[in-house]
Amino acid sequence: MGEQTGDPKKLYIRTYGCQMNVYDSERMAEALGGNGYVEVASADEADMILLNTCHIREKAAEKVYSDLGRLKGLKAAKPDLKIGVAGCVAQAEGAEIIARQPMVDLVVGPQSYHRLPEMERAAGTTKVVDTDFPEEDKFERLKRRPKAQRGPTAFLTVQEGCDKFCAFCVVPYTRGAEVSRPAARIIDEARDLVERGVREITLLGQNVNAYHGAGPDGGDWSLARLIRALSDVDGLERIRFTTSHPNDMDDDLIAAHGDCAKLMPYLHLPVQSGSDRILKRMNRQHTAESYLRLIERIRTARPDILISGDFIVGFPEETEADFRDTLALIEAVNYGHAFSFKYSPRPGTPAAERAQVDPAEADARLQRLQALLTRQQRAVQDAMIGREVGVLFEKAGRETGQMVGKSDHLHSVFCEAPGIVPGDMRRVRIVSSAPNSLAGEIL
Ligand code: SAH
Ligand code: SF4
Ligand code: F3S
Repeated sequence: MGEQTGDPKKLYIRTYGCQMNVYDSERMAEALGGNGYVEVASADEADMILLNTCHIREKAAEKVYSDLGRLKGLKAAKPDLKIGVAGCVAQAEGAEIIARQPMVDLVVGPQSYHRLPEMERAAGTTKVVDTDFPEEDKFERLKRRPKAQRGPTAFLTVQEGCDKFCAFCVVPYTRGAEVSRPAARIIDEARDLVERGVREITLLGQNVNAYHGAGPDGGDWSLARLIRALSDVDGLERIRFTTSHPNDMDDDLIAAHGDCAKLMPYLHLPVQSGSDRILKRMNRQHTAESYLRLIERIRTARPDILISGDFIVGFPEETEADFRDTLALIEAVNYGHAFSFKYSPRPGTPAAERAQVDPAEADARLQRLQALLTRQQRAVQDAMIGREVGVLFEKAGRETGQMVGKSDHLHSVFCEAPGIVPGDMRRVRIVSSAPNSLAGEIL
């Protein structure tokens, strides 16, 4: 630091994949700020381009190579341009990326981000690759941005990695073993975010409810304990967390949904399949029945909670009967939101070696599943009409005088909102429902 003079260098980051990558990109931008970079919104003007990649499905991973191909012209026109690949493809493929695309200068895996500033300095003169899994809290060593104001919502990573090894999933390989950050650091970071204007924090982890970080009192803190402590942070109005595994929903976390006012009534709880035969082959370690019982207990604690899920169709050996079990589970749960995917075989995972379902059949199942989920989501949304909800306003809407924000249940809500600015919270009555949003009146 300190050696930079003249205009700042320009950094363009493109983020693929999950919310954790969004958080990581913010932290990498902050860290590279110390190397004299400011973030810009287009690749054309950049001095450095960083692709923060996702490896979860084949399409996501291949997208990186087609995007790199498109950057070739920029690199030819500006030989000093530094191109870096971060994220889960970087972790999975390492130096292979440079072999395939020699214009890439730097490859950095998710557990090595604290080394990014020194890697950036070396890049350009030499190729740099780091995909180690060091034993330290990288975020502690990543520089924070000077106290700049920011929007009303933020992500905060509290746990990373996964020890579950579902048979389809690359995450345990790309993110490594489960690690929880110490509670005191998370609380400090939350306070810092609130001072910069944040009102809502979503706690992130690949298995966020498996969180067990060192507490300030020396003990082991659960996610529920952490949420209760964060509830005491003045100015923080809303807390969410994602993504949870059904087997890590402990009693205290369920209770928190009932008695912690700042914890929002929304839970993303992926089940993947409703067939016990397939769940077993997926190594999910739970059954459809245990999942349904769990949902029941959560709804007893918080009756209006909105449940969201993830589903995979066409997992190896999935039959029509297995698929119908999934539809039946969806009917039983009544999801307010969901993501669904066609199974994608991933190199190095056990399921990739098994007999695959006919792709056309898998496509047809995905369409049937999505039709059902869309109907449910719309019905859950329509049921909000006439109800009073809290809305945290985030930005201007499409029409003048209009603002849009998120309800407690994470629906997008549009309102006529004279005098309202981003970060304001209001009680709102829902008056109508459109395919992906609600309209409301401020009370
Ligand atoms: N850690 C989270 C989510 C991991 S990835 C969890 O445990 O739920 C997000 C979602 O991508 C998964 O829930 C799963 O539905 C989907 N997914 C993961 N691997 C996949 C694969 N190989 N093919 C298709 N979908 C996959
Ligand atoms: Fe992947 Fe399963 Fe771990 Fe989720 S719990 S990250 S789906 S291995
Ligand atoms: Fe993708 Fe890695 Fe997230 S594979 S979904 S970016 S953890």
